Amino acid sequence: MNNKKNTFPTDETSLDEMFMWAKERIIDGPDPINGAKNSILLEKQLGGAITKDGLGWNKAFDLFTKAIVPSTRPFDHPTSLAFVAAAPTPAASSFDAVLGAAEIFAGNWDGGSGAIFAENQAIKWISSLAGWANEISGGVFVSGGTLGNLSALHAARIAYRSNHSVTERLSVLCSSEAHSSITSIAQVIDVDVIEISSDKYGKIDVKETKEAIKKNKNIFCIIANAGATNSGAIDDIDALADLAYLFGIWLHVDGAYGLAALADPQSAKLFSGIERADSLIVDPHKWLFAPYDSCALIYRNAKRGAAAHGQKGHYLDVIDKTAWNPSDFALHLTRRPRGLPLWFSLAVYGSQAYANAIQKTMKIAKKIADEIEKIKYLELILGPQLTVILFRSLILSEEEVYEWSERHRRDGSLLCLPTIWKGKKVLRICVINTNTDPSQVIKVLKTLNKL
Ligand SMILES: Cc1ncc(COP(=O)(O)O)c(C=O)c1O
Repeated sequence: MNNKKNTFPTDETSLDEMFMWAKERIIDGPDPINGAKNSILLEKQLGGAITKDGLGWNKAFDLFTKAIVPSTRPFDHPTSLAFVAAAPTPAASSFDAVLGAAEIFAGNWDGGSGAIFAENQAIKWISSLAGWANEISGGVFVSGGTLGNLSALHAARIAYRSNHSVTERLSVLCSSEAHSSITSIAQVIDVDVIEISSDKYGKIDVKETKEAIKKNKNIFCIIANAGATNSGAIDDIDALADLAYLFGIWLHVDGAYGLAALADPQSAKLFSGIERADSLIVDPHKWLFAPYDSCALIYRNAKRGAAAHGQKGHYLDVIDKTAWNPSDFALHLTRRPRGLPLWFSLAVYGSQAYANAIQKTMKIAKKIADEIEKIKYLELILGPQLTVILFRSLILSEEEVYEWSERHRRDGSLLCLPTIWKGKKVLRICVINTNTDPSQVIKVLKTLNKL
């Protein structure tokens, strides 16, 4: 093709530079001092980027490397211990860069059979870890835990409706520690949330759960935490599975963060009972070392997912409905094969590397918690549960702690943010990066005695 006559020509020199930048970013990692800038500054740097005649590749890419990237938080840096960060393997990140170029449509088998087959291998790996090594389980990679939870809850509601004549409002049941997405999803699907209290570790009160189920006849789904975001708490999935079975309710396990630990046989025991759940989610972009954005949504019986999802339209009649079409298992149609970076990384390193990486991050969290306990002006409040630690300064005020946190966020030495635990302001750490250096973290935590 004549490049010059092409409506959208290619600049091969810039292309080489872009791939070189990607390679260096993957090898060197992010700059820890990058972070949010205000929009006045960003307007100065990026205003005028969209012009009638275009800036050309070189100038536009310069805007990306010199203005956009430095204004983003480097969540995959080893010092990033807030929220649930990200820590993609080099293989997963490299493959994601390549995947974009392959432009694969993976909504249906006809568009992406090879990619879908490989994604399903990764799904099968996760489902076999959950004890669903059978032919009827299956699912799909969606953009994130929120969409995964939404799609699972919708499937649960459809399953309930197929067995009950529903006249009253429906409800889901979860603990007070359930992720914020559950409340949002309940609003979207217009159902109520029955919130059960949690114990001192953040685990759901099973007795109260049973009482609530007896009292409320229209609960269609119990949502179990498998690694609550705030505390790392894992609900007693076995006990919840008993209740789900007894009362004929769908059991969904939200393991967006924590279910990654299934990859480590030692930790897998923590999720006993999951083999009896109806659906689960786990985000490879959290603790399974894959890049954004990716959540594995899996149904123990995939047909129950398909019964709720899948779009219909005359233009879709040509799609082979007997084939495995990922679009049919969640609220989406067009999709990229976002499970492939996990698949590639698993293929490159093998599953044992994942077990080792989970164990390593758990050891890092344990070491940090042990050291916190030894520091007399810090109080270890909880953990590590999985890799979440809650603690507080016994010397600094809330404002001083906030200032401390901001200072270290800005200088790139640590991203450690406050949260609220049982009504009290505490600091929270969540380790998911195998390169986090516990002694470096402790060095920064030791400065929590002064400003
Ligand atoms: C337990 C849990 N569930 C759901 C979510 C939502 O996932 P996402 O941010 O990928 O939508 C999160 C995110 O942190 C989470 O920790």
